[in-house]
Amino acid sequence: MTNILCIGAGFVGGPTMAVIAKHCPEHCVVVVDINAEKIAAWQSDQLPIYEPGLKEIVLGVRGKNLFFSTEVDRHITEADIIFVSVNTPTKTFGQGAGRAADLQYWEKTARQIVENSTSPKIVVEKSTLPVRTAEAMERILNSNEKGLFFDVVSNPEFLAEGTAVDDMRNPDRVLIGGRQTPSGQKAMQAIVDIFAHWVECERIITTNLWSSELSKLAANAFLAQRVSSINAIANLCEKTGADVTEVAHAIGADSRVGSRFLRASVGFGGSCFKKDILNLVYLCEFYGLYEVAEYWEQVVKMNEYQQASFVSKMVTAMFNTVASKRIAVFGTAFKAHTSDTRESPALAVCRELLDEHAQVVLTDPYALESARADLGAVADQVTFEPDPYAAAQGAHAIALATEWPQFAELDYAAIYETMVHPAFIFDGRNILDHKALHAIGFNVYAIGKPPLTHFENPLPAA
Ligand code: UDX
Ligand code: UDX
Repeated sequence: MTNILCIGAGFVGGPTMAVIAKHCPEHCVVVVDINAEKIAAWQSDQLPIYEPGLKEIVLGVRGKNLFFSTEVDRHITEADIIFVSVNTPTKTFGQGAGRAADLQYWEKTARQIVENSTSPKIVVEKSTLPVRTAEAMERILNSNEKGLFFDVVSNPEFLAEGTAVDDMRNPDRVLIGGRQTPSGQKAMQAIVDIFAHWVECERIITTNLWSSELSKLAANAFLAQRVSSINAIANLCEKTGADVTEVAHAIGADSRVGSRFLRASVGFGGSCFKKDILNLVYLCEFYGLYEVAEYWEQVVKMNEYQQASFVSKMVTAMFNTVASKRIAVFGTAFKAHTSDTRESPALAVCRELLDEHAQVVLTDPYALESARADLGAVADQVTFEPDPYAAAQGAHAIALATEWPQFAELDYAAIYETMVHPAFIFDGRNILDHKALHAIGFNVYAIGKPPLTHFENPLPAA
C-alpha cells in the first residue's frame, strides 16, 4: 500500500484524487486543505464543487480509501507520494504583478513538507507552475538537515471543468516529467504506475521536467488561441455577412486543423486560460523574448475585446442605451456543466452592463452562489434569480452568456410574451435556434452572424 496525499482540495485536487482512489483500491488517498469549510463539504453529501459524475465516485470510495482532512502536518508525515494542487493565482503585487504566478502558497507548502517529513518522499507538481519551478522546489526540499531526499515530479492536470471526471478516466494523455537521474526515473515510474491502473501505457507520456512544466502552459495557450482566433474571425463575419458557424465548420473540416475548440463565443473564461497565458508572457519577457511575449498576449487582449464588444453591440442595438432597462443574463458559469464563475465572461458582461446603468438579473442552474461571491462589491446591485422565466419577465433583453443546454430548451414564445417589446436576445454562445426566435418576434443578435431583426433599418452592429 502506498500513502498518497494531495494538498489542496479544489477543482483539481478533489476530482483527481477521487478517480485515483477509485482505480487504485490498494492505495490510501488523503486530500487535505487549510480551508476547514471545504473539507467539511467534501465529507458531506453537498460536495463543494459540481462536476458531473463526481458525487457517485466520491460516495463510492470515501471512508474506504479516500479521506478528507485538515490535518496537513500529520498526513505529510505519513505520505509516500504528495501531489500539490494548491492554487497559483496571478500575482497582484510587486515584480510581475498582473502576469507572473504567485508562488507563495507553493513555497509555503514545500517548506511545510520539509518540516513534517521523517522519510524521503516524491513530491508531484499538480498545480500549473512557471517553467523551472521544480528546480526551486528541489532546492527548498533538499536543503534540509535531516538527510532526507525528495524527488520532484511534474504531472500537470489537463482536466477541463464540467468534464473533469471523464477527462481523468479517459485522458487523451497523462504527462509525467522528471529528472533523468536513476532516482528521478524511479520517482516518475511510481507516478506512471498509479495511472497505469486505468490508462493505456501509450497514453502516458514521460518527459524531462521542463518539457512537462512548459507543455501545460503551452497546451492552454494553444487552446485559448483557437478561441481567440475564431472570435477574431467572428468579428469580421459580422461586418461582411459571413456566418462564423459555417466558417468554423469549413476550417475545422481540414484534418490538420480539426473541428474542436472553434466555437465562437462571448469569450473564454475559467481559472486557467488567462492566468496561464499571462504566465507564459511573463516567462518570455523574463528571457528577453519580447516578440514572443507580445504574440501570446494578443490572445488575452482579443478575449477582453470580445467580452467588451458584446456589451457595446447590445447597447448599440438597443437604441444606444440600456440605462434602467432590465436585462436578463442567462448563465453565470464560465462554461456549461460547472458551478465555477472564475474569470467568467458572464460576469464581465454583467459588470459592463452595470456600468451602463442597466438593471441586471442573473440566472444559472448551478453557479449563482459563486457568481455572488465573485462579483464582490457590485453583487448587491444585481438580482439573482434561479428561474430563467422569472429572470426574463419584464426584461428588455436576454443576454445568453453560458451554453447550458437547458437554455436552448426553454419556451421562448412564453418568455417573449412576458418581456418588454421590442424584445432582444443576444446569444453569446450561438446555441439557440435563431430563426425560430426571430419568428416568435425577437430581435436576434448572435456571435459572428448577421442579426435577425424586425426593424426596417436595423442599427448596424458596432
Ligand atoms: C489550482 C490552480 O489554480 C491551478 O493553476 C492548478 O493547475 C491546480 O490547482 P484549482 O484546484 O482550481 O486549481 O484551485 P482551487 O479550487 O482554488 O483549489 C486550491 C485549494 O488549495 C484551495 O481549496 C485552498 O484552500 C488550498 N490551499 C491553498 C491549501 O490547502 N494550502 C495553501 O497553502 C493554499
Ligand atoms: C482548460 C483546459 O481545457 C484544460 O485542459 C486545463 O487543464 C484547464 O484549462 P477549462 O478552463 O476547465 O479547461 O475549460 P475549457 O473547456 O478549456 O474552456 C475554457 C473556456 O473557453 C470556457 O469559457 C469555454 O466556454 C470557452 N470556449 C471553449 C469557447 O469559447 N469556445 C470553444 O470552442 C471552446
